[in-house]
Amino acid sequence: MSGWIETVAEAQRRARKRLPKSVYSALLAGSEKGVSYDDNTTAFDELGFAPHVAGLPAKRDQATTVMGQRISLPVIISPTGVQAVHPDGEVAVARAAAARGTAMGLSSFAGKPLGDVLAANPQTFLQVYWMGTKDTMARRIQEAREAGAKGIIVTLDWSFSYGRDWGSPRIPERLDLKAMARFAPEALARPRWLWDFAKSRHLPDLKVPNIAEPGREAPTFFGAYGEWMMTPPPSWDDVRWLREQWDGPFMLKGICRVDDALRAVDAGVTAISVSNHGGNNLDATPAPIRALPALADAVGDRVELLLDGGIRRGSDVVKALALGAKAVMIGRAYLWGLAAGGQTGVENVLDLLTRGVDSALLGLGRSSVHELTRDDVVVPPGFTRTLGAV
Ligand SMILES: Cc1cc2nc3c(=O)[nH]c(=O)nc-3n(C[C@H](O)[C@H](O)[C@H](O)COP(=O)(O)O)c2cc1C
Repeated sequence: MSGWIETVAEAQRRARKRLPKSVYSALLAGSEKGVSYDDNTTAFDELGFAPHVAGLPAKRDQATTVMGQRISLPVIISPTGVQAVHPDGEVAVARAAAARGTAMGLSSFAGKPLGDVLAANPQTFLQVYWMGTKDTMARRIQEAREAGAKGIIVTLDWSFSYGRDWGSPRIPERLDLKAMARFAPEALARPRWLWDFAKSRHLPDLKVPNIAEPGREAPTFFGAYGEWMMTPPPSWDDVRWLREQWDGPFMLKGICRVDDALRAVDAGVTAISVSNHGGNNLDATPAPIRALPALADAVGDRVELLLDGGIRRGSDVVKALALGAKAVMIGRAYLWGLAAGGQTGVENVLDLLTRGVDSALLGLGRSSVHELTRDDVVVPPGFTRTLGAV
């Protein structure tokens, strides 16, 4: 990777330059008109700080814990199916997270097997969807336990919306000769990306090994997506059932309503991530940072509260912590870092967030992330949204 990446915006620019158009567009994602996608980042800009100038702490501490894992910054990796971004994919991300002392969420739709990712970062949680039969789900969870996953992240906020005003990428079922011929002009226009894959001697095969049936070949991304789509959506009893299958830390990701958060607490979850799937679910769902204060009031200390969606700077992390999150999860920020520079690019993104958190703590006169309170943030009237108030 050539040179330090100073901001996530710069990582995004480099990713756009380096990736074939359809791969970049698959990362950008978003649904429908992109109302949620936009709000996720612009909402952070509406929040202000009121910095001190003297009496500031000489040292600031960022260490905390998430789902029983000690982490050195309040940022963990949110699960994403990174697939064709970089030949080392999720293993590079896991290595970078381990090098910076933080935890990794691995998507069920990831391109690398859980075992390889755990070898790169033992602080890995496996993310699962509600898909297949209960027997299949119980078996997948058992496999995760045997492999040594440190926790489960259950993602339920997906409504199979389709169509984006800025166009959806054409993702082939598999990279056979026909698909490669169609993809070739795009790929040839991005020789550095192609060269990375050429060096690794394999093309992205778009398979999802963590969904494979025992003794069978891994299905393709679309095969797995079909299984997911055909599975009837879960009830809260099903969520309780899933929780009983895993006797360790368990996160429910994608909560934005107070009533759902309370049901999740009743179901015995360890953690909740306030999220709208990075603006990829039902468009016009408000930014998670707007929903966070009401959820923090509702759940108190009964579960760990995380937030994901729109984190692009260390100061965003600090705003989320001040409004009640214990830590945040990042998606596109590390994917752009991965595209720009593989493991080094992801480390760079984690480093720039660490520096940003440190600088915000200094300005606010806080010596630890645990000292942050709502008073550290200027919340304009009308900013927050209380969804599903009980
Ligand atoms: C390309 C892409 C793929 C994603 N895949 C998954 C996934 O497989 N499982 C999941 O729980 N969330 C998935 N997400 C959502 C992220 O985990 C996270 O909620 C979101 O990216 C946070 O928003 P941010 O990208 O603004 O940080 C995906 C997001 C993106 C952008």
